Amino acid sequence: MTILDGKKISNDIKNEIKAEVDKMKANGEKVPHLAAVLVGDDGASLTYVGSKVRSCERVGFESTMVRMPHTTSELELLKKIKELNKNDDIDGFIIQLPLPPQIDTQKVLLAVDPSKDVDGFHPENFGKMALDMSTFIPATPFGILELLERYDVDTKGKHTVVIGRSHIVGRPMSILMSRKGWPGNSTVTLTHSNTKNITQITSQADIIISALGVPNFLKAEMVKDDVVIIDVGITRVEDDSHPKGYVITGDVDFENVSKKASFITPVPGGVGPMTIAMLLKNTLLAREQRRNP
Ligand code: GUN
Repeated sequence: MTILDGKKISNDIKNEIKAEVDKMKANGEKVPHLAAVLVGDDGASLTYVGSKVRSCERVGFESTMVRMPHTTSELELLKKIKELNKNDDIDGFIIQLPLPPQIDTQKVLLAVDPSKDVDGFHPENFGKMALDMSTFIPATPFGILELLERYDVDTKGKHTVVIGRSHIVGRPMSILMSRKGWPGNSTVTLTHSNTKNITQITSQADIIISALGVPNFLKAEMVKDDVVIIDVGITRVEDDSHPKGYVITGDVDFENVSKKASFITPVPGGVGPMTIAMLLKNTLLAREQRRNP
């Protein structure tokens, strides 16, 4: 069994990005600038955005965190997005999801300039991804592809089962794993909350990508020997014995499933750090495209 070490690989990627930024600096060029908009003060979102901003510093990017109160109206957020679209110094920006209920997420994502949409959530970029055109690939699926590639995991002709159909992970992942090329060329089954008899499906899978958000959902009895497991779950589970009062728990019963797996991502330290590294990679791409349209 091999651990797919997202912490190590994301560090390698950050070092590669930093080397690119150092070259830009040496040539007197502008360095990439990422902005992140956080509406409200949800603890998990604040942690993720803080981590994204800190990672920018680590690779030599400029970064801006835009904080708006949870009472922000849709109009106010749309105005802020217009400003970021126009601001020539900002190469890419993200709106951290989820947004408060008074704001229509689809309207907000449509307002982002596709050339600055480093999350790859705008319909123009999502459509390009589905059509195999060059674009920003959403950071979590992009990170999973990168992990599979760097560990040389064979995906061709394999049965990949994706659990969860979110626009951020499950849906794009199902498209990417079925693409012609590598990683890809899989036969994909996309399962979700209305799927019947999920064990019958997961037990046939060569590769399982779980983005459900239910702690320890996937048990050893639900998988076959030598399965490849990608665990995207990051649920905070209360735990008073931990200084923070919670532990981050994945969708997979790691202790037992890992005994049957050929490759498996840990939580934490698997997919999570890869998401941030790939967001940085998309921001570097955005800068390069602005310099060289
Ligand atoms: N919320 C959970 N994952 C993500 C992500 O990848 N990007 C943004 N903007 N919000 C998220």
